Amino acid sequence: MNVHAPNTAGTSQGSGIIPAENYISPEFAKREAELLWGRVWQMACREEEIPKVGDFYTYDICDQSVVVVRVAADEIKAYHNVCPHRGRTLTEGCGHAARLFCKYHGWSWSLDGTIAKVVDRHEWPEAMVSDEELNLMPVKVGRWAGWIYINLDPESVSLEDHLAPAKAYLDPFDLGGLRYHWRKSAIMNCNWKVILEAFNEGYHVQTTHSQMLRYFDDWTQSYAHGRHAHFGYWESLPMGSRSPRLTGGAPTEDIRPGIRDYMDDMAVTLNAGSSVQAVHAGRRVEQEVPPGTPPMEVLMKFGQFLYEHAISLGLKWPDISAEQMQAAGIDWHLFPNQIMLMGPTGLLGYRARPLGNDPDKCIFDVYSMQRYAEGQEPKNVEVEWSQNLDDKDFWGLILTQDFANVAEVQKGMKSKGFKGARPNPLQEVAVLNFHRALTEFMDKGYAA
Ligand code: FES
Ligand SMILES: [Fe+2]
Repeated sequence: MNVHAPNTAGTSQGSGIIPAENYISPEFAKREAELLWGRVWQMACREEEIPKVGDFYTYDICDQSVVVVRVAADEIKAYHNVCPHRGRTLTEGCGHAARLFCKYHGWSWSLDGTIAKVVDRHEWPEAMVSDEELNLMPVKVGRWAGWIYINLDPESVSLEDHLAPAKAYLDPFDLGGLRYHWRKSAIMNCNWKVILEAFNEGYHVQTTHSQMLRYFDDWTQSYAHGRHAHFGYWESLPMGSRSPRLTGGAPTEDIRPGIRDYMDDMAVTLNAGSSVQAVHAGRRVEQEVPPGTPPMEVLMKFGQFLYEHAISLGLKWPDISAEQMQAAGIDWHLFPNQIMLMGPTGLLGYRARPLGNDPDKCIFDVYSMQRYAEGQEPKNVEVEWSQNLDDKDFWGLILTQDFANVAEVQKGMKSKGFKGARPNPLQEVAVLNFHRALTEFMDKGYAA
């Protein structure tokens, strides 16, 4: 896997300008509902959300609703969430059921989707209420790394094919071994793509999160991999040095205090993914690595301390090489709407999807996952909701800084003075590639 050669695939969006219509037009949103969401693989939930047979999760996308059910210890099915009698939805949210049940007139189904009971069934002509007519309509399901995906198009390619170019980079992280640490959600006053694009590039860090420049060089590169994309720090140290934007380019001699500050600060302002574990390793770097140690050796030591801490806690360290970790970068955007910053001991994940067919609103989920010693995983980590988007205590400083941009972007894109978005061709390839892939997918689906 060579990620170091410049990859310009993502910069071929014609002129490199993304029309505002893609974010603000109700017609575009309507086309997306049918041509994207109606036929793309999309992450519905995590397996840990439906651990027991009979547990279900209701996944809503645009005006469609799907119920995902664990039907056997290792079998998960999904159905269109609608009663064939007079159209009531069967479930909302998540829960547990021995049978799926319609609250209107009491019809019910076995977990495998077959009709179990029709009240006064004999009153219909037989052909109208045959089992075949009344069984729940299946929706395609795929599973990867602990996530459950659905696809509303029965003819789509396999989930494996959909994920292939990204999966090869991500599988070594053993993401299936992670469990929820916390989960937060909000309704955002912006298009689903506006908020996703606040998390699939590192270019905004120098301004939106300028407090971070004191302990790392923020300059990232971004590469497309089919419909997916990632970014990382392949030409600079990933942490510890002051940003050249502050130093005028002078290198940081001693990166140890920067690593400590970075880890301490991340734990306070984000409290997510690997950051909790990394505080410990950051402290050890400062205390145990002698001054004057070359930066690359300091980083190796940091990795070693992270590993030692994880092992001391009884965690299973993934079978991943330094090269694999380096090749993966730090952030992946899986088409169309799943983003993750992943590390060996944790992950910070994002998802955004339209709220109904309104181009100006979306449902945004952010979650932290961690590796836990067996039996130590928190159980039933519930989603916490807050519409108070500048509440630093609830969201942490970093997310409130990101949120402060998104509704303003949505508003600004409607300006008569806005000629379209022009992402940075090096640092924002993930944004460009996303729109290239979206346009192509809406045009040709998986045939492209
Ligand atoms: S609508 Fe479901 S039983 Fe009548
Ligand atoms: Fe950000």
